Amino acid sequence: MPTLVIVGAQWGDEAKGKLVDVLGGEAELVVRYSGGNNAGHTVITGGQEFKFHLIPAGILHRDTTAIVGSGMVVCPKGLLEELDRTLAQKSELGTLIISSAAHVVFPYHRMLDSLEEEARGNNRIGTTSRGIGPAYQDKVARIGIRMGEFVDPNVFPARFAEVVKVKNQLLAMFGKDPLDLDALLEEYTAYAERLRPYVKDTDPIVQDAVYGGKRVLFEGAQGTFLDLDSGTYPYVTSSHPTTGGACLGTGIGPRMIDSALGVCKAYTTRVGAGPFPTELLDDVGEWIRQHGKEYGTTTGRGRRCGWLDLVMLRHSCRLNSLSGLVVTRLDILSGFETVKVATGYKLDGEEINYVPTNTFDFERVEPIYTELKGWSGDLRKCRKLEDLPVETRAYLDFMEEYTQTPPAILSVGPDRDETIVLRPDLIWGA
Ligand code: GDP
Ligand code: IMO
Ligand code: MG
Repeated sequence: MPTLVIVGAQWGDEAKGKLVDVLGGEAELVVRYSGGNNAGHTVITGGQEFKFHLIPAGILHRDTTAIVGSGMVVCPKGLLEELDRTLAQKSELGTLIISSAAHVVFPYHRMLDSLEEEARGNNRIGTTSRGIGPAYQDKVARIGIRMGEFVDPNVFPARFAEVVKVKNQLLAMFGKDPLDLDALLEEYTAYAERLRPYVKDTDPIVQDAVYGGKRVLFEGAQGTFLDLDSGTYPYVTSSHPTTGGACLGTGIGPRMIDSALGVCKAYTTRVGAGPFPTELLDDVGEWIRQHGKEYGTTTGRGRRCGWLDLVMLRHSCRLNSLSGLVVTRLDILSGFETVKVATGYKLDGEEINYVPTNTFDFERVEPIYTELKGWSGDLRKCRKLEDLPVETRAYLDFMEEYTQTPPAILSVGPDRDETIVLRPDLIWGA
């Protein structure tokens, strides 16, 4: 059963979408397992740019089935708009299936997301305002509405009326007017009608594919350090972007995963608030942001930029059981005389070589850097390891030595073709 998890090894936007597109054509199923339309996955191919927020990037392959997994939270309006937009760009897509267990994001989730952020004041998380946190809160509180119920006309109206009543009480506490149940019901019933044909019980589909020996790719969203449990809490998202999340969000068990590739940039970025030890608040950080066009796919916010943090990356390799790394944006780091990588931290005068669990400790660490030779030239033309400058190869060797995890794939540009596969053996497992 050749199965592969593509997981974000840093704070998101590592280019998971590109990788899923590159490898998705080899898979029978591509299943996204966490998050909602807080994600923004960009794919550039054949001169066209596609942006996915909810639909797995594997949909671009005609013979692939793309599954919106049970661990996701789905905005029906957003999903339909995304489907229409993608179909307008490319008429022949793969098959789309939505898990009946995925939770639905409603307008009150988005409103509460913004209201909660406002209430946090200076401690705001910097969420994407897509209602993700409040939708997962409802799931945990057991008052969420799942896709299967949403598209069932015998169930949805009564369930929705119950929940809207509670939400109106909550909105009143924030001094907001109540929602108009009838208008919402009409709007959302229309979305449910359109989505009904896509909603299925997906656990058996995924399990049968895996046990039938088909190639299944599990598409991660967000990144390891945004994981609710393993990330820089409370500056995290409300789901599980880590490899473990692939089990929680798709209906498979841990022994059904053969390989996991962690996508990481050659440097580090983060959107939203929270600790970031190697952040560059100077001209170098600004240069990376401008040169790398580091602006969010979902919100357009400027991404915070900094040097590669190997302490974090090693933690990510272990936490995610990574078989290999996918190192992206090597082209953007071109042009520096020297580049730095964090290989330890100083915390209250003491040297440590791990990521402290307590975020308030992590906020205080000072990175200890190792300085390596930089490289120059246009890496976007490179198609094999030998084409890369010797300094880039030394950088990759250093990454491998420190993390004990080999680079399996390199990305030297946004296009599908700007990819170098180093270790095909690590992609689908043995
Ligand atoms: P994701 O959320 O992990 O799928 O990543 P995003 O799509 O949000 O952000 C990655 C951005 O980098 C997108 O605009 C990609 O087109 C772009 N990209 C991907 N790989 C490379 C690369 O190797 N070099 C450069 N310059 N851009 C890349
Ligand atoms: P992809 O899949 C980068 C960040 C937000 C915020 C925090 C919580 O494109 O890599 P949320 O709206 O989820 O409650 O926000 O998480 N965040 C992301 N950052 N890439 C993403 O997804 C993200 N999804 C959420 O910026 O800091
Ligand atoms: Mg993104």
